[in-house]
Amino acid sequence: MAPAAHSLAAGSGLTTTKAAFIEQARAHGDVYIHQPYELYSAENHATWGRLLARMHERWERFANHRYLQGLEALHLPAERVPRLEEINRFMQPLTGFVARPVSGYVPSYVFFDCLRRREFPTTVTIRDGSHLEYLPEPDIFHDVAGHVPMHTDRAFADALVRFGECAAAAAEIASRIADEHEKLRRLTSNIRAMSRFFWFSIEFGLMRGAEGALKAYGSGLLSSFGELEHAILAPAVDRAPFEIARVVNQPFEIDHYQPRLFVVDGFDHLYALADELEDWIVQGRLDDVAGGDPPVSESDLRSFLEAGAV
Ligand SMILES: [Fe+2]
Repeated sequence: MAPAAHSLAAGSGLTTTKAAFIEQARAHGDVYIHQPYELYSAENHATWGRLLARMHERWERFANHRYLQGLEALHLPAERVPRLEEINRFMQPLTGFVARPVSGYVPSYVFFDCLRRREFPTTVTIRDGSHLEYLPEPDIFHDVAGHVPMHTDRAFADALVRFGECAAAAAEIASRIADEHEKLRRLTSNIRAMSRFFWFSIEFGLMRGAEGALKAYGSGLLSSFGELEHAILAPAVDRAPFEIARVVNQPFEIDHYQPRLFVVDGFDHLYALADELEDWIVQGRLDDVAGGDPPVSESDLRSFLEAGAV
C-alpha cells in the first residue's frame, strides 16, 4: 500500500466514504471483499456502541417480535463493530443465510442473485460518529443491525430468496425479446417495480401484529433512531395495506423520512406477496409501471442483460 493511502486508512479507519481500503477495492472493481477488521478505528467501534445502545428502547417498543428474537440469536457485541464471521456462525444454522462483505454499491441483478444464494451483500464501513442519524449510504449498522436479525426468520429468509427468483425470471424474459428498445423499456420497468417492492417491504415495511399493534420489520426503520418512532406514531404518515399494484407504482425518495408506508399482515403474507410478484413479472404486469424514482442505472440494466445472456 502506498504511504499516502496508508495514512488515510489509519486516520479514518473504516468510516463511510472515507475508507481508503474500500476506495481501492472499488478502483480495482472488486465487489466482494473481506472485512479488514484491524482497520476499524477506536472511534468506529465507539460509534457502533453508541448506535446500538440508543436503539434498544426503541426496538422494544416498535420492532416486530421476530426481529427481537433474531437480535437475541445473533449476540451482537455492545462495545465494538461485529465480525461478520461471528454473525454467520449464529445465523447460517437457522436459515442458511450469510452476511457477505462488499465494497459498496452492488448492481441490481447481482444483489438479487446473492439473495437467491442466501448471501446478503453487507457493507463493512460505519457512519461518521458525528452523524448518527439516517444516511442515504448503507453502512454496517444499517446492514447488520437493521437487516440481519430478520434473516434468522425462515419465512422472511424465504421471501428474500423469492426476490432473487423474480430477478432471474425478469432477466430470462428480457433475453427473449428481440427488439432492443422494447427489451430495455420492459426491463427498466421491471427493475423499478422490484426496487419499489423491496423498498416498501424489506427496507421500510410495517406489519400488523397478532394483537393488532403496528410494528416495523423494514431495516431502514429498524436502523433509524428517529424514523422508527416516526413511522409508527406520526399522524402525518400514510400507512396503507400492502397491495402490489399500489406499491410497484409508488415512487420513493431516499433522503428524507418516508411519507407513505405499506403494511403486511405477517411474514407468510410477505412471502405470498413475493411469490405473487414473480407471477406479475411472468404475466407482463410489471412492464408499464409509473415512471419516477428510483432511477434505474446503466449498470443495473447491464447486470440483468448479462445474466439473461448466460
Ligand atoms: Fe438496506
